[in-house]
Amino acid sequence: MEFNNSPVKRRGEVIKAIKGTRDILPPESAVWSQVESVAREVLHLYGFSEIRTPVFEGTELFARGVGEDTDIVSKEMYTFGDRNSRSLTLRPEGTAPVVRAFIEHQLHRDSQILKLYYMGPMFRRERPQKGRSRQFHQLGVEVLGSDHPAIEAEVIELLQLLLSRLEIRETELLVNSIGCNCCRPQFLRELQAELAMKKTQLCQDCNRRSETNPLRVLDCKVKSCQSVIESLPSIVEFLDDACRQHFDQFLGYLQSRDIDFRVVPRLVRGLDYYMRTTFEIVSPGLGAQNTLVGGGRYDGLAELLGGDATKGFGFALGLERIILLCQQDGYTPGMIPPQLFLAPLGERAFNKATLMAREFRHQEIHCFLDFVPRTLKSSMRLANRLDAEYLLIIGDDELRSGKYPLKRMRDGAQILVIEAEVRSRLRSIWED
Ligand code: HAM
Repeated sequence: MEFNNSPVKRRGEVIKAIKGTRDILPPESAVWSQVESVAREVLHLYGFSEIRTPVFEGTELFARGVGEDTDIVSKEMYTFGDRNSRSLTLRPEGTAPVVRAFIEHQLHRDSQILKLYYMGPMFRRERPQKGRSRQFHQLGVEVLGSDHPAIEAEVIELLQLLLSRLEIRETELLVNSIGCNCCRPQFLRELQAELAMKKTQLCQDCNRRSETNPLRVLDCKVKSCQSVIESLPSIVEFLDDACRQHFDQFLGYLQSRDIDFRVVPRLVRGLDYYMRTTFEIVSPGLGAQNTLVGGGRYDGLAELLGGDATKGFGFALGLERIILLCQQDGYTPGMIPPQLFLAPLGERAFNKATLMAREFRHQEIHCFLDFVPRTLKSSMRLANRLDAEYLLIIGDDELRSGKYPLKRMRDGAQILVIEAEVRSRLRSIWED
């Protein structure tokens, strides 16, 4: 196989991250940890357990599960041959892998729903821009084993709680039903007939899709296609009684929870496994890539992947996009400042300080020890920069006497302490 860039760079040449991927550095990584821990709290509250699937799978999983004609499968997957020429793909999404694992490990239990969540990197070869990258991270939720519309509303309720705990306010919930295998074919026939009459007004992609997967045309973002798309028949008019009832009940459950929504009949989503309920949460704060969350029902997916018929509903939330919103709202936790800065003066003191650091950390004291020799003045400067609360001076005299000056950085107040009392003195030190 020929590569565009020789993988062996010249010695000394700077090696950079691949286009569309990026490093998450401190202090931004602290925002990620915070978002992930808030998410876990909410997910556990709603009875979800974590599942971790591999980042690569056999290509056929996505071809069959997500659909050959979707943009994701036809244009965006990172697919490569294994050494035995098996085709593998870096996962572009998490639902098909979760359903694969569900079938493989026979996770179904009699009449019990299974609530799973995952967080991790996904890969799509899209044009990178704000809020869109080639390696991105999703928090996903999949509920397997129920087609009750109340579970759909409960999942959206969970999402709302998560967004409110993250203090993300300006969002809108868009909902739709795309029917099922009984009622959708009639809609697709009508849609195809309309599209055939409007061929010349549509872009190339739409013309191709109107033959292979006409529902995808509704999802087209090309400006010149929008007026045609507006004039097309709406799927909600074609829902059969069972789908109509399901959708009405779902909307009723949202209303009874005081959850605002807007029904958008053109909301079809870019993955083929959906049926009945689909939804998105969008946020104007995100710009062009304004979809924060996408999800829906996928009752036929397990069968498509060779398993027993299993109902499924879920969503995935783009973590990069959530982080963008958190940062726009001014949420920027810095480094966690050390409680205690150790300032050794000389080599013997440094050796003692390394052991003290171990002891203090065992006592749950967040302490900082630098590994370059410093004067007291330079230690004070660094402790200030790190916003350390206290500084402990360890010099030859102190080693001899076993008594160490403990300085409060805020006002310079100082007392002498022995090592064993440092922990208790940190809090009570200057309380009279
Ligand atoms: P999706 O709409 O393809 O759905 O992706 C869900 C979310 O992932 C998007 O709303 C967006 O926030 C984020 N996302 C997607 N692509 C990118 C990208 N290139 N860069 C940054 N963020 C991105 C799914 O993946 C389905 N598996 C969701 C689902 C779960 N449906 C049912 N269960």
